[in-house]
Parts: sequence; structure tokens; C-alpha cells
Amino acid sequence: MGTTQAVLTVEGLRHRYGETVALDGVDLRVDPGECVALLGPNGAGKSTLVALAVGLLVPQHGTVRILGGDPRRAATRRRLGVAQQTLGFPNTLTVNELVTGAAVRGGRRPAAAGPILAELGLTDLAPRRVPKLSGGQKQRVQLAMALVTEPDLLILDEPTVGLDTMARRHFWQILARRRAQGTAVLVTTHLIEESAAVADRVVVLDRGRILADAPPQELVSRLPDRTVTARTGMDQAELERLPDVLSVRHEHDLVKIQTRSPEDLLRVLLDRDPALSELRVQDAGLEEAVVALTAGEEMAA
Ligand SMILES: Nc1ncnc2c1ncn2[C@@H]1O[C@H](COP(=O)(O)OP(=O)(O)O)[C@@H](O)[C@H]1O
Ligand SMILES: [Mg+2]
Repeated sequence: MGTTQAVLTVEGLRHRYGETVALDGVDLRVDPGECVALLGPNGAGKSTLVALAVGLLVPQHGTVRILGGDPRRAATRRRLGVAQQTLGFPNTLTVNELVTGAAVRGGRRPAAAGPILAELGLTDLAPRRVPKLSGGQKQRVQLAMALVTEPDLLILDEPTVGLDTMARRHFWQILARRRAQGTAVLVTTHLIEESAAVADRVVVLDRGRILADAPPQELVSRLPDRTVTARTGMDQAELERLPDVLSVRHEHDLVKIQTRSPEDLLRVLLDRDPALSELRVQDAGLEEAVVALTAGEEMAA
């Protein structure tokens, strides 16, 4: 453990809803300026962990600390910027009033709202009321409200749901900027590859337990699978019979072969098909690594 104070510390957290175990002993630490992506399938416990971290739920077992304080205390919550899908807005307020209100409640000047609205492309929507906004626009308003207080820790639950590709890209750029300024970020998402581009660490949660907590590159390198891509005249059955082939898949006129021994496979491939072209060998992506982790748990269960 370093000497810097953690922004978020979670220890031995367990939580159940009646018979359903949502969190089954979770430990997590987020340091200043760190961006942590919390990944996991539906029902893994991500939103429960977030609700506990922001003080909306009371821990049944274990502790949550934000900069050493209890997130259920208002003074602690002021250091947080939160965007959660389940939070509603008062329908009578405009975008400008919502973001200005968030700034003031967080101890900032009302004028802090302007630059944030501009950064999120909300300036033109500032006079509009929430019921007149699309899902993606509401998401951006939530993010603006979270950012305007210049929090020490941003906690975002599925912030990219409902955003189109451009808006998502813009969102990850905004996060990268905040991270560079020293803001810590905990973001839950099912968009694994996108989160990998900005996250320092990836935490994989499944059935209330943490299966992995590591930099994205490390998770990928733990997975020995490689994908060999090529254009070949060999047919599916022939390819499947080659040594150490895990799977064969056709994509347009290319074939993608999953293997753990790319060298052995390449020797045989080149030998059998002298006309083979467009050869490429790639690592598995983070998505494959996370799927392999959670699938491994399913087999064990
Ligand atoms: N309010 C609730 N009442 C009962 N069960 C819940 C409630 N919220 C979540 N759960 C259950 O707890 C588990 C974890 O849910 P959740 O934290 O929402 O996971 P995630 O956000 O990863 O999808 C799931 O089995 C879910 O059905
Ligand atoms: Mg959720």
C-alpha cells in the first residue's frame, strides 16, 4: 500500500436483497487520478457496488470510505460526482437550472455551469426542460451535473447507455481529460473495448465477486489465445482438423482461426495452402479475456 490516501476504499463488502446475494465480499481501492472500469455481466453486482459507494445504500457487512469519510455524510458526498441511470430529474427544471443547481450544491459558483454545458455540447439545450430531452441528452445532463462540482472522484454507472458512437467517443475523451487533471474515476460499463482505452485498471465483477483487478493489457496477456486471419482456399472442415485449432469463423472472404499455438498452426497452414495471403496474427482483445474469465466461473459453478 502506498502512502497516498485512497480516494475510494471498499473492504469486505457483502450485500443481499432478500435471498439474492448481490455482493459477496468485495475489496476495491481507487487512488487519486486513477480510472477504474468496473466490468461484468448483468446482475454481477455493479450497480449495487455503486449505490453503496455513493451512500445510497447502507452496507450490511464491510465498509466504504471516500477520502476516509462515510459516503452517507453530506460533506463526503460533496467530493463525489455521480451519474446513475436510475436517478430521476425534476421535470420542471431546465438543463441550465439543473447544472447550475448542481454547481451551487457542490460549493461552486453558478457560472461554473457554462463551460461544462459547452464541453458536453449542451449549450443549445440549456433552456430546455428534461421531458423534452432524448435519452442520450439526459445522459449528458447527468454527466454535466457530475462534472460541474470538480469532484475528487467521479462515479458513473453505465454512462454510455443510449449514446451513439460519436457521443460515446466524445464521452471517453472527456473522461480522459478529467483523469489527466487528477480526477479519479470509477465507471461501470458493458462496453469492454472502449473502457480499456481509458482505464488504468479493469475490475471484473461476476456474481458479487471480483474475478480480476489488473491493467487491461495484463488481463489480455493472461489469455493465451491468438487469432490467425488469412485468405485461403481451404474449407471449414479442413481448417478445423489442423493442429491446436480452437475455432474457425468466416468473415467476408477471410477466415479467422482461434489458436493457442500460432507458430505450429502457421507452419501447417503455409505448407498446405501455398496461395494463402493476407496473413495476420493478433492477440485476443479485452472482451475475449473478460468473457473467458466469466465463462470459467460458470464452468466452476
Ligand atoms: N432492489 C433490488 N431488489 C432485489 N434484488 C435486486 C435489487 N437490485 C439488484 N438486485 C439483484 O442483485 C443482483 C445484482 O444486481 P445489480 O447490482 O443491479 O447488478 P449489475 O448492475 O451488475 O447488473 C442481481 O441478481 C439483481 O437481480
Ligand atoms: Mg447495473
